[in-house]
Amino acid sequence: MSKRIVLVTRRVPEAVTARLERDYEARLNREDRLLDGQEVLARAAGADALIPCPTDKLTAQFIDQLPASIRVIATFSVGYEHIDLAAAKRRGIVVTNTPEVLTDATADCTMLLLLGAARRAHEGERMIREATWTAWAPTGLLGVHVTGKRLGIYGMGRIGKAVARRARGFDMTIHYSDPVRLSPEIEAGAIYHADPNDMLPHCDFLTIHSPSTPETYHFLNKERIARLPDGAIVVNAARGTIVDDGALIAALKSGKLAAAGLDVFEGEPNLNPGYRPLQNTFLLPHLGSATVETRNAMGFKCLDNLDAFFAKREPPDRVA
Ligand code: DGY
Repeated sequence: MSKRIVLVTRRVPEAVTARLERDYEARLNREDRLLDGQEVLARAAGADALIPCPTDKLTAQFIDQLPASIRVIATFSVGYEHIDLAAAKRRGIVVTNTPEVLTDATADCTMLLLLGAARRAHEGERMIREATWTAWAPTGLLGVHVTGKRLGIYGMGRIGKAVARRARGFDMTIHYSDPVRLSPEIEAGAIYHADPNDMLPHCDFLTIHSPSTPETYHFLNKERIARLPDGAIVVNAARGTIVDDGALIAALKSGKLAAAGLDVFEGEPNLNPGYRPLQNTFLLPHLGSATVETRNAMGFKCLDNLDAFFAKREPPDRVA
């Protein structure tokens, strides 16, 4: 039997490509050029499945134009807000994502953002590169102490919980807010706030781990920033849309907030230019899941889902 045709919109890791080529007729994008919707549609003719990434916008209009041969979309991401699920359902297209495998990498990256922002790692690194470091100084690059502080986690799903585990290693007191309260064993002493507004005054550090939904859009706005203690630090490794950039930039400029560690941005890679000149921002280019192990595992999950779908089994990570 001839192999199913799978269109992949971006270059994926070697190990994933090898398995793709072994089991499918893979239409690859080895040069990793960003394709617009029309280019993806042109390449999709006759394909059975699509592996897109968060950089692709699968709007209802795009999905309506997909060839009838495409019956499954396996996104190379845990987030799926770039896909209009209702439109996919209407067309009878199954959609899957890649949960679980990027939890640890993203939680590790969150601690990097938290520590980097608090301890001004980027400023110190720049001094070394630019040869402006002249001598150790008792008051040189003083940052914010992390150990023993209060950490507020907005969104206590898999990644939020993994961040809480790591933060306990820094003797941090954990506060969290999520629509669902954890069981006492999993909560492990963390303090629950049903209303996130009640949590904010307790956050020396606030870290965001909720999904991007219409409800969480610009959650962190001017009013909520005002509820944080003066000198708090904000971390976001979830989605840029959850933060109102104008409000965050104003608070970083005024000194209301000491610093921010951000891996994600609304409209990325075209982030709000107001972040760039601010010394008190530790900024990364959306690399929360960027480890070889994690990106391989994400690709293998896409393929596990496709394998199940074509074997007429329920794909394990179906979201539509
Ligand atoms: C995802 O999978 O949604 C991530 O944002 C990519 O790291």
